[in-house]
Amino acid sequence: MFTKMENGTQAEWEHISQEHIPHIGDMPARIIAMLEQLEQLSLGFGTNQLHHALQTATMAKRDGADDETVLIALLHDMAKVVNVPNHGQICAEIIKPYVSDDAYNIIKTHQDFQGEHYYQYLGKPTNLRDQYKDESWYEKAVEFTDKWDQAAFDPNYDIEPLEYFIPLIKKFFAFPHSV
Ligand SMILES: [Fe+2]
Repeated sequence: MFTKMENGTQAEWEHISQEHIPHIGDMPARIIAMLEQLEQLSLGFGTNQLHHALQTATMAKRDGADDETVLIALLHDMAKVVNVPNHGQICAEIIKPYVSDDAYNIIKTHQDFQGEHYYQYLGKPTNLRDQYKDESWYEKAVEFTDKWDQAAFDPNYDIEPLEYFIPLIKKFFAFPHSV
């Protein structure tokens, strides 16, 4: 095997490509592991972040949302296990090869939409969502935020368990549509 890429051969790169396949196939397991880590994160809210994720997704599902919307409801805060301030952007980039452009944009900007419900308490403008008014996905982002995300902090809500959503995770993360 080469010690410098500049000396690589066709056979070596075919071997490396083959070795990537199981790692690509393991993507659902990595998503599930990130969600499980959310249980350790409360950040001062009345529920831990796994409960919040499960409640957001359960509410979306019970309201008849489509599979991709339920998926992003489940995943939208998972990158808080990496970094909180830009968790939306991080999550959006992780899921980009597996979801639609609408889903990518809703996740990427969801903090700006959520700000309408609390940024006044942090000295920030609450109308950051307005910059996206003309986007095709704006109404879907409003629905996601106002009906489910901002309303999913009830420790007594009857959530579906993480196991319930695993088939959905496996379906979407089976293989990237772009690499
Ligand atoms: Fe959230």
